[in-house]
Amino acid sequence: MSKMHDFHYQDGELYCESVRVQDIAERVGTPFYLYSHKTFTEHLAKIQSAFRSLKPLICFSMKANSNLAVLRSLVKKGAGLDIVSSGELFRAKKAGCPPSKIVYAGVGKTDLEIEEAIRAGILLFNVESIQELGRIQKIAKKLRKKANVSLRINPDVDPGTHAHITTGKAESKFGLDMDTAHLIFMRSDQYPHLSICGVHVHIGSQIVKGEPFVKAFRKVLLFLTHLEKEGHRIKYLNLGGGLGIIYSDERPQTAEQFAKHVLPLFRSKKYKIIFEPGRFIAGNSGIFVSRVIYIKRTKAKNFAIIDGGMNDLIRPALYDSFHDIWPLHQNGTAKRLTYDVVGPICESGDFLAKQRTIQELKPGDLIAFASAGAYGFSMSSNYNARPRVAEVLVRGSRFEIVRQRETYKDLIRGERIPSWV
Ligand code: LLP
Repeated sequence: MSKMHDFHYQDGELYCESVRVQDIAERVGTPFYLYSHKTFTEHLAKIQSAFRSLKPLICFSMKANSNLAVLRSLVKKGAGLDIVSSGELFRAKKAGCPPSKIVYAGVGKTDLEIEEAIRAGILLFNVESIQELGRIQKIAKKLRKKANVSLRINPDVDPGTHAHITTGKAESKFGLDMDTAHLIFMRSDQYPHLSICGVHVHIGSQIVKGEPFVKAFRKVLLFLTHLEKEGHRIKYLNLGGGLGIIYSDERPQTAEQFAKHVLPLFRSKKYKIIFEPGRFIAGNSGIFVSRVIYIKRTKAKNFAIIDGGMNDLIRPALYDSFHDIWPLHQNGTAKRLTYDVVGPICESGDFLAKQRTIQELKPGDLIAFASAGAYGFSMSSNYNARPRVAEVLVRGSRFEIVRQRETYKDLIRGERIPSWV
């Protein structure tokens, strides 16, 4: 199996590439996110290489991790970006992503967002409703521009993943059913300011098997064949993201296995293929490092109370997701105990791990949560007035803070107390 990440133990100490994580913790304080440049660039390379015969455009789904240093590193390796808001467009531009490599998805694009994206000259809008299509037409007309559009198809396929991250079933809010999409293609001359030149499909996230993808892609292929018979010209085929990674004992397909499933379907076609992986690229490249504050033993449980909480890493609370725990110092002779690892937030949902058996923890100990590079920091918040944590990037033996820990001042930025209260 190909290597998953670049975190390892050396003499019982956790390293990221060639840097001892403890050294970073001492410099930066806790909690913080830590990313391995090697891991995420290699994951991009894995997809690039598995699909090299198709030369796809790989648009990293930046909702997974939108740190500028991460984005810049990926863009420098040839990636484009998948965005879902003007805020992400702003970040994408700051990271130096060419607009010609930006695709824009999402069911709720506002007029302003559409206008900003047209002005920026992005490659494609992935359109999710007739109403949105009409809106883009109107705004493009006002700007005297022509916008490229892909229709996001909802293929009604169950990806077999968590309900909150399933997007390709008929009852979900995403995409267009094929009949509606077909109707749009038939009436495309009603949209003179649009070039409806692509089809997009994304059925969900953390999909570990090939079958749901193949099922969805086959449906889309049939649809495309039908369209072409009718004389519609399709240039772009965006196959979305969704590739699963290892959190605990999953056995997800590798990029090569995924390609083996997918390549035969598209080899003979002349579409420009686009992928939008987020988690596959960033997930295993990041850890979340936190310090134990208290060990609290109750009649029912052992709680390890740490300085990181659900506002920093919300995935366990939101999806019951599992992040492996790596102590920064391994102690082979320590007892093993079972803990609920919880944060300081005033909610019972504030846990990062439940009933986890690990080496005995003591106040002051440092632990890392694995596979936190995707949907970790990007989903964090200031809940309980907690400044957002620092982000650090390692490359080889170098490391740098790529986002400062927020200050108390950051917490109240933009707030005002009116004179009349
Ligand atoms: N393309 C579209 C249109 C998407 O909606 C998404 C993710 C992706 C690509 C990237 O999917 P990925 O390759 O990362 O699976 N917060 C959840 C995941 C939400 C995914 C949302 N859409 C989590 O932490 O598991």
